[in-house]
Amino acid sequence: MPFAYAFSKSATAMRPSPIRELFKLIQRPGMISFAGGLPDPAIFPVEEFAHCAEALSEHGHVALQYGATEGYRPLVDELARRMEKPLGRVPSPEELLIASGSQQIMDMISRVLIDPGDVIVVEAPTYPGALHTFRNAGARFALVPCDSQGMQVETLEEVIATCRRATGKAPKLIYTIINFSNPSGACLATDRRRRLAEIAGQHAIPVLEDDPYGALRYRGEALPTLFSMADGGVLFASSFSKILAPGTRVAWAVGDAELIRKMVVAKQGMDLCTSMVAQVLIAEYCRRGYLEDHLPRICAHYAAKARAMSAALREELDAGAARWSDPEGGFFFWLELPGRDTREVFRRAVDEGVAFLPGPAFYPEPDETVGATVDGSSMARLCFTFAGGEEIAEGSRRLARALA
Ligand SMILES: Cc1ncc(COP(=O)(O)O)c(C=O)c1O
Repeated sequence: MPFAYAFSKSATAMRPSPIRELFKLIQRPGMISFAGGLPDPAIFPVEEFAHCAEALSEHGHVALQYGATEGYRPLVDELARRMEKPLGRVPSPEELLIASGSQQIMDMISRVLIDPGDVIVVEAPTYPGALHTFRNAGARFALVPCDSQGMQVETLEEVIATCRRATGKAPKLIYTIINFSNPSGACLATDRRRRLAEIAGQHAIPVLEDDPYGALRYRGEALPTLFSMADGGVLFASSFSKILAPGTRVAWAVGDAELIRKMVVAKQGMDLCTSMVAQVLIAEYCRRGYLEDHLPRICAHYAAKARAMSAALREELDAGAARWSDPEGGFFFWLELPGRDTREVFRRAVDEGVAFLPGPAFYPEPDETVGATVDGSSMARLCFTFAGGEEIAEGSRRLARALA
């Protein structure tokens, strides 16, 4: 007789990640994957990282011990210095927290702000990993549609009003990916950033500004952060996952000291502290100036791949049947196939030997949405960073065959 577990309400309500489930389908030999949002392992700085292990002979007794929940102080100081430019000032140590991936930052903020039934404003489309974490906390979602300039901020006040009418309360959080969004690749236009900061401030709704891709700009000028435009209330989050390596599982958040303190207490109950070994190695990596050298290298590497995908899509896809915008940075092309259901195209594509992620993965389900839903069934995300240059061309040919 199998053991009968009495799962909690929240575990019963959990839904498996659609992306992780799809990965099982696409692990076939010869499959070209535009599906996962993975960095290219060929560009991981393996040698430099191995050199950084020398730091263990000096700092090994610290690296192998438990550390402060707030983070390893030399890395906190390094990050505070690095944040001066995007955030407009050097945050104090009380305003900065190192986490086990940005995913944990979402988990911490959910634990300190969200009660079951609370509403979080998200972009449509948005990052499914965020939806997953917020859903685990019992959140419901109010959607703001996006275009090539990011969130359509002019509809935000109406979305907040709808939420108030439906629930009697304002949303508890606004979640936004301002640079090279996952999945749309769009950057929020500067005037929209200003307006978003204003509206959030007026309604006293905190904002999670999730920015793992901001440093990966291949063209154009960097845009100001929401954090730098707001007078408090914005939690800025970024990560080493995309600029260095996701296996390190190190990210950081900067926000109001009171919020950071609550998040620290939540993290104490999650994992006590972020891996000290990883933090010591990353602090050494930054101290040696390796990150400064690495960033232009990966930007050039990924820019070439973005150009290769742009050229391959232009070559292979019928412009009347498919639309996409060339991203200025990040990891993703967001493809629209008017009149097609990309879940059905996905099945044909897998038969042809190429995988991508169908649009519906990036939108909350109607039964967890407050107010209007957005239909993403004709959309698809193509990640250009993981596949090799040749694979990008061949994968695009296979995609065209799947669409034919
Ligand atoms: C927008 C966004 N936020 C957060 C994450 C998770 O990052 P981390 O590896 O730091 O947990 C990802 C990963 O793909 C992402 O795309």
